[in-house]
Amino acid sequence: MRVLLAAVLAFLAPAAAAQQVVGDAIPASLTGQSGDAARGRAIVANRSLGLCLLCHSGPIAEERFQGDLAPTLAGAGSRLSEGQLRLRIADGARLNADTIMPPYYRAGGLQRVARSFEGKTILSAAQVEDVVAYLATLRD
Ligand code: HEC
Repeated sequence: MRVLLAAVLAFLAPAAAAQQVVGDAIPASLTGQSGDAARGRAIVANRSLGLCLLCHSGPIAEERFQGDLAPTLAGAGSRLSEGQLRLRIADGARLNADTIMPPYYRAGGLQRVARSFEGKTILSAAQVEDVVAYLATLRD
């Protein structure tokens, strides 16, 4: 019975509850595993999923019209640790309350969210890990 209750509670907990912020980073993987850099690259390049290139430019040559509202993603893996990258993707507003960058892994606290997105994160934990793995490969 207790195990069943724990399982139900785990299911009800908000998706983003597990993240543990230490300083300016989330040191531990959100899934307990490393992401896949190739899948992460596809998410960053995807215009309807990641939308990263709306604001950032990056070393993704096949995509035209990259943004200039944010620092380039080139060299991000040299500038930032995986934990620092993870927090910036999950919820950059924790570092800069005025940031225009969307919180990709924060459930709740958002305004004007369509009902079908309520309580959901923009990217799944696994997708965040894939993006972290990709950005970590971007070294200068
Ligand atoms: C609406 C614009 C916007 C979108 C979309 C966006 N970002 Fe950002 N991002 C920013 C801005 C602006 C900053 C600068 C930091 C700040 O605002 O505090 C930033 C900062 C970052 C940083 C830290 C860079 C550094 O050198 O310090 C990383 C890494 C990053 N973004 C990755 C991403 C990824 C990956 C995506 C897609 C999943 C994404 N961003 C989507 C606007 C955006």
